[in-house]
Amino acid sequence: MKRAIGFIDSGVGGLTVVKEVLKQLPHEQIYYLGDTARCPYGPRDRDEVNQFTWEMTNFLVERNIKMLVIACNTATAAALADIRATLDIPVIGVIQPGSRAALKATRNNRVGVLGTIGTVQSMAYPKALKGLNRRVEVDSLACPKFVSVVESGEYKSAIAKKIVAESLLPLKSTKIDTIILGCTHYPLLKTLIENFMGSDVAVINSGEETASEVSALLDYHDLLDRDDNGVQHRFFTTGSVSIFQDIAQDWLDIPDMHVEHIKLGNEKGVYQ
Ligand code: DGL
Repeated sequence: MKRAIGFIDSGVGGLTVVKEVLKQLPHEQIYYLGDTARCPYGPRDRDEVNQFTWEMTNFLVERNIKMLVIACNTATAAALADIRATLDIPVIGVIQPGSRAALKATRNNRVGVLGTIGTVQSMAYPKALKGLNRRVEVDSLACPKFVSVVESGEYKSAIAKKIVAESLLPLKSTKIDTIILGCTHYPLLKTLIENFMGSDVAVINSGEETASEVSALLDYHDLLDRDDNGVQHRFFTTGSVSIFQDIAQDWLDIPDMHVEHIKLGNEKGVYQ
């Protein structure tokens, strides 16, 4: 029996990480859970995000996943250490890989971080970046409007372009040469962000580096799948199946994708 890699996020954002994993590891089976009904996690307090992240984790652990990817920066900041210390399968987040990728890209050690309010307040990126290179200078910016633009499927619209320009204006006057998309929803806005910041600024999607880490860890634990026989990806959402399916299909290009609706805890959110 194949065992899947589990991915969790507050909504569709973690699909940006799944995309990179499927590119590097096409034999792997994916179980993905997006807690869309309670999205966004960004403005919620840390304890609540920790609790929701555990609920998602337990749902996938009950389905016998072999590894967990917390494909959400807000959840990584609130719960990675706790979950990693408790589970007996490998658990990875997206903040350390994103930081590593940014340090590879920067030429002047000035890095910008875009994230949710929760991620920015946690200081998880400055800590991770300075832990790897104490000379790096970090400008963090919370972009609370981005997640709803993505979840509503409006990420290619003129409104999205306007919101990106208004939100990123404070970074235009800094000397950063690299920006980390410190929320897994943001890669869906990557083209708009690149166009606004200009070609001198490298825009980092942590998905690629996270996928390399998934690959290395699976190999280390001898858990890699050697063929794609019997692969059946499963996608679960606590919110609207049709909206999730539209975005996932646009982004992942998986034929015959089947999305299942599930319930977790006591759901109270915007995208029911
Ligand atoms: N995708 C998430 C992240 O990486 C969270 C978005 C949200 O729910 O606010 O932080």
